[in-house]
Amino acid sequence: MKKYSDQEIKSFGLIPERIPKHVAIVMDGNGRWATAKGLPRGAGHRAGVNALRDIIRFTSDIGVESLTIYAFSTENRKRPKEEIGILCGLLIEYFNREIDELHENGVRIKSIGDLSWFPTAVQETVRAAEQKTAANPGLKLNIALNYGGRAELVRAMRQAFAENAEADENAISRHLYTSDSGDVDLLIRTGGDERVSNFLLWQIAYAELYFTDVKWPDFTRDELIKALKAFAGRERRFGGLKTNGAK
Ligand code: FPP
Repeated sequence: MKKYSDQEIKSFGLIPERIPKHVAIVMDGNGRWATAKGLPRGAGHRAGVNALRDIIRFTSDIGVESLTIYAFSTENRKRPKEEIGILCGLLIEYFNREIDELHENGVRIKSIGDLSWFPTAVQETVRAAEQKTAANPGLKLNIALNYGGRAELVRAMRQAFAENAEADENAISRHLYTSDSGDVDLLIRTGGDERVSNFLLWQIAYAELYFTDVKWPDFTRDELIKALKAFAGRERRFGGLKTNGAK
């Protein structure tokens, strides 16, 4: 839940009216961060989870309404079994350790993607976190797990078709996993690559894109503030002539 006053938000160099409502992040570079330090890739993922903790806290505190993070893509299933096992272990550990604080801060957790692919222990942990936080009024935290943007669109179209909906944009957007978070305002990708990688394809139609070479474990709140400042400085026209679509 928003903790900072407008004055405090300004003290970070940010403009309260230009805080994006919906931020999405591709948390890339954990493996390379670890390799560069002579550590196993798993150590990079662990450091990545620690970085995530502060980013969730800060986005919640400044009043971002929705944060959607790419924790595991459908393509990540191709990784070695051992690395997938480490990621699953980290996920369970993360939820067990953080759930109480997230709940106290009013965060509402929702997984997006096909959770059924994961081991039962992961599914149960994630479902329990969703249930516990379902009625919370604060930050909507969407965690993409075994998520792919095209698969999400196919799923939405199937659902719309099954209810004989009119073939219009609304029929699709209301069946997206993120239907209650709306469009993405700012998409951040760390780790130096400048691509979208099948993330939130529909929702990013008018998003501002922010790429940084910083690897995810090094993405501190100061780095996030840089991204938010860049967002505030962009002129958003949504195909029209002039406006700023931020909150
Ligand atoms: C990309 O780094 C990152 C991932 C595939 C996983 C991201 C996951 C976490 C930060 C932790 C798990 C999430 C939660 C919610 C507990 P990479 O391995 O592709 O890095 P590389 O491109 O350097 O190899």
